[in-house]
Amino acid sequence: MTAERDGNRPNLMGFALHPGFLAAGEQAALADAVLRLSGEAPFYRPLTPGGRRMSVAMTNLGTLGWVTDARGYRYQARHPETGAPWPPIPESLIRLWRTVTDAAGDPDCCLVNLYQSGARMALHQDRDEADFSFPVVSVSLGDTAVFRIGGTTRQAPSRSVRLASGDVCVLAGPDRLAFHGVDRVIAGSSRLIAGGGRLNLTLRRAG
Ligand code: SIN
Ligand code: FE2
Repeated sequence: MTAERDGNRPNLMGFALHPGFLAAGEQAALADAVLRLSGEAPFYRPLTPGGRRMSVAMTNLGTLGWVTDARGYRYQARHPETGAPWPPIPESLIRLWRTVTDAAGDPDCCLVNLYQSGARMALHQDRDEADFSFPVVSVSLGDTAVFRIGGTTRQAPSRSVRLASGDVCVLAGPDRLAFHGVDRVIAGSSRLIAGGGRLNLTLRRAG
């Protein structure tokens, strides 16, 4: 993380995109670390409260993990399939959070989304956290996502933003509750992840 990146610090508000925040070597190290941790906390495809299987595979790191099933959306301390606590968030991600936010505390959750063959994520708000004054920080690794971000109502106009490997974005202030989603992932756009696909890490302060 270079000093120059401090110039990209968001001004406490809004949606901030930091293109190429992570260098190639940092991306590879982070993807390796997360994929290694997924050996302890395996990826699984959750059910929505409505009973549909999500196309994105998920796992979590941290003291709390975001889960969904027939009982609804929530954070919990254990993997729903193994019953084990989630592995810890790598220190490099905690440092990244401190660099791109002015948050008064560290993240306690890193949701790990794995997009393979045709996976997408419908427009939604991140609103299961206890305190919306903490931002959400998103790190993209691997294939480029066609990300969509709108306003705080589902009807508000939205725009399409490409998130490439190494890009970091922050949802804070007036955009903390902005609707967002992934329209599609561009297969073959990166060689970072063996076998292709995209990893997205979202750091949150859930509790
Ligand atoms: C999410 O909203 O949980 C994921 C966003 C992304 O994959 O970029
Ligand atoms: Fe989200």
